[in-house]
Amino acid sequence: MTGEKAHEMVADGDGIDGDESVVRRDRFSGGPARSFLSSLEADRRIFEADLAVDRAHVLMLAEQGIIEDDVAGQILTALDAIEVDGHGSLPDGEDVHEAIETAVIDRIGDDGGKMHTARSRNDEVAACIRYRLREGVLEAIETTLALRESLLAVADEHRETVMPGYTHLQPAQPTTVAHWALSYEGAVRRDTARLLEAYGRINQSPLGGAAFAGTTFDIDRERVAELLGFDGIVENSMDAASSRDVLLETVQALSTHATTLSGLAEDVVIFANRGFVDLSDDYASTSSIMPQKKNPDTLELVRAVAGDAASGVQGLTTTLTGLPRAYNRDLQRATTHAWETVDAVVEASEVAAGAVATADWNEETLAAEADAGFSTATGVADLLAANGLPFRSAHEVVAVAAETIAESNTGEGDALEAAAAEVLGESLSAFVDPDAVEDALDPAESVASRDSRGGPAPDAIVPQLEAAREARDAHEATRSAEATALEDARVALREEVNGYV
Ligand code: ARG
Repeated sequence: MTGEKAHEMVADGDGIDGDESVVRRDRFSGGPARSFLSSLEADRRIFEADLAVDRAHVLMLAEQGIIEDDVAGQILTALDAIEVDGHGSLPDGEDVHEAIETAVIDRIGDDGGKMHTARSRNDEVAACIRYRLREGVLEAIETTLALRESLLAVADEHRETVMPGYTHLQPAQPTTVAHWALSYEGAVRRDTARLLEAYGRINQSPLGGAAFAGTTFDIDRERVAELLGFDGIVENSMDAASSRDVLLETVQALSTHATTLSGLAEDVVIFANRGFVDLSDDYASTSSIMPQKKNPDTLELVRAVAGDAASGVQGLTTTLTGLPRAYNRDLQRATTHAWETVDAVVEASEVAAGAVATADWNEETLAAEADAGFSTATGVADLLAANGLPFRSAHEVVAVAAETIAESNTGEGDALEAAAAEVLGESLSAFVDPDAVEDALDPAESVASRDSRGGPAPDAIVPQLEAAREARDAHEATRSAEATALEDARVALREEVNGYV
């Protein structure tokens, strides 16, 4: 410390006379664009965050000897009262930061104006956004974990439930419900991982960046970060006050999850349509005119949330593109894209988890449909190839048989025999045991034989289930440790405040 700085201890203010907002000078107190300028209503979401940020900042100012302890005590007492009164009782202001400061000054007089020493609304709002976003992202992570739980339960229960698998929405090869469910679990697992990674970058404090150019005061940025439960600080003060890439990264991760959800929802809508799955009434809706209808509306809405999330990414990207350094007011409108995306995707993920967890799979219908469209054809070709026929010739034999089956109602066995005669000039039995062909034509046998790593055979599903459970538990442990760290920081901040009030 230089000790020479005139403002090392902020002197008593002279007082600002009689306008409505004690924070704003008359010149900027209003005008026709006042409501356009204001984010006060949208800032409801960061009201608690701003109070926490104010408290941590004031504590640090007092600890550093920048403001007097008794002034800190008065400000902190005022902040408590403002919290009790709630966001709705704030005085008018351009945003929540200004309104809270005005409310503090209204309560304790000019000394309240010391709260804003050594900071700017620029680092303040950046901190509030990160503080509040942490909660939203943890919630999103939690819903992805719940969805994974639902998918794992389905997979566990239906390891051997054979169903048709599709490519191009055409019957392709028999698989199992477990294999299908785990395919989405794998994607949602990566969605969780992306959100956790984003979380690590969100959880850094920009406070102390001030307007962008740092401050002459001897602040302790690490201390403020610690008081707010941040893992570290955003080092460069211009970066700290003006970057919003973590918002974009988060919205992108949420949008990716929404895209995963939309595919899952679409599958379930199709499966419900085909009678493969019955949705619980809780996740269905009916028609206002057609009394017999049970429609998968919840999943259609889940599917549509991908549109909301994509628009969040688009809106945020467009707002941020080309913004010069440092702070620009455009950033005020960037934030709302993130909140809207968090809300929409968290809700969709929760609903998807519930719909999957409560749906009933119709095993008989699935089994009956599992070999529709000669979907065991690839297995037959594999069998012929395993018995020495080049795979391309095997493919040709089965393709000719498939054509016959599609055009007439010849049975699969007969069609294969005729095709072998046509393509190979020999009987199938010259290459392969007829029992083996029969097995290959059976959907359950077909599934059981595809036991390559990651495949649908029940034997191959067991290790996939195990790995999925382990990954889920590890992600849950990380989520819970982060949530606990936030809660601990909240308690610790309160205790520090209690030392002053
Ligand atoms: N409400 C503003 C926002 O959300 C706070 C920062 C205003 N800063 C400024 N220099 N005008 O971005």
